[in-house]
Amino acid sequence: MLDIKKIRAQFPILNRKVNGMSLVYFDNGATTQKPQSVIDAEANYYTDENSNVHRGVHFLSGLATDKFEETRNTVQAFIGARHNHEIIFTKGTTDSINLVANGYRTLLGEGDEIIISALEHHSNIVPWQMCCKISGATLKVIPLLDNGSLDMNEFDNLLSKNTKLVSVSHISNTLGTVNDIEAIIEKAHNFSAKVMIDGAQAASHVALDMQKLDADFYCFSAHKLFGPTGVGVLYGKEEILNVLPPYQGGGEMIKEVSFEKTTYACLPHKFEAGTPNISGVIAFKQAIDFITDLGVSEIAKYEEELLRYVTAEVLKIEGLKIYGTAAHKSAIISFNIEGLHPYDIGLIVDKMGVAIRTGHHCTQPIMDRFNIPGTARISLSVYNTKQEIDVCVKAIKKAKLMLS
Ligand code: ALA
Repeated sequence: MLDIKKIRAQFPILNRKVNGMSLVYFDNGATTQKPQSVIDAEANYYTDENSNVHRGVHFLSGLATDKFEETRNTVQAFIGARHNHEIIFTKGTTDSINLVANGYRTLLGEGDEIIISALEHHSNIVPWQMCCKISGATLKVIPLLDNGSLDMNEFDNLLSKNTKLVSVSHISNTLGTVNDIEAIIEKAHNFSAKVMIDGAQAASHVALDMQKLDADFYCFSAHKLFGPTGVGVLYGKEEILNVLPPYQGGGEMIKEVSFEKTTYACLPHKFEAGTPNISGVIAFKQAIDFITDLGVSEIAKYEEELLRYVTAEVLKIEGLKIYGTAAHKSAIISFNIEGLHPYDIGLIVDKMGVAIRTGHHCTQPIMDRFNIPGTARISLSVYNTKQEIDVCVKAIKKAKLMLS
């Protein structure tokens, strides 16, 4: 059993007031709050350790490098990767997907196909459109069923020997659907296609084991799992990262440079040009330690309980419709109330200290699928409570009264 009071005490921001009310932070799908250990690690780097990594022989550079690489080893263990050089640090999930999509521009050609799904965030759509435009490959889309899950029969129909890559989210940021990525990976591998999983919404909610999962690429952002912004992870299988061309050229990603010819560094440095977000990467270790100390399965169990509670409570509000009702869901509730604009709901509940996201959530194709302009979205985390859900539901009811 998790001690939620003790967990909350680690997050200083949860004590603040918003519009004179206690903050109820239900926008965890956008970014999570940070525990004191992460905040301290960021500050401590600049106070005591600041130096560039992989570049100097002096003491501080060695210290910063060791701590930076310690995070890589921590991520490796956290996601069960075979090698630590299969962990590439990026700016975030978007950057990780762009890294792979950029590389595939030169690996694909006319007749090749990439499959994504109708559930994707724009960051798992646009890079592939750009990749297809330049490479001549074709983009195919797995459609959505009415409950917000993927039409796996259609996926079977889309797969062929032309499929070179499948890129889908693990969990939908808008509908909360947990995709059956094990089945997607297996089916795609039967056609020798590679699979990339966008794990932005999953990494702190689902236990990950890359070797068991057998994904070819998996990516996520530190800031959605209690870490700093501007840090992301791209996991890739060694043999595939070795054939993927570099994303950016610059310092640290080379072996030798002359004006005639440049050779590239080994993994992971081949994909880490330029000075990285050193403080962010170092502090990210504290975020992962925070999650591992609690246990991902304990977190998942508690969030499941919150999901059941919030679902039951919001459905008591007359005229409220939830989008995304798949059997396997994460603690994300997207909803609309008949006759009200989600933006107005968001503004009014904010006056009561409740932070939710409204709009299309960077998933316009999902909005088109359900023929709506947007939704209001509650996305929960391990520090949230049933009492907070009660406050939120009361705020939504008040918004409904005011707007009707
Ligand atoms: N992708 C983030 C969200 O869903 C920003 O809110």
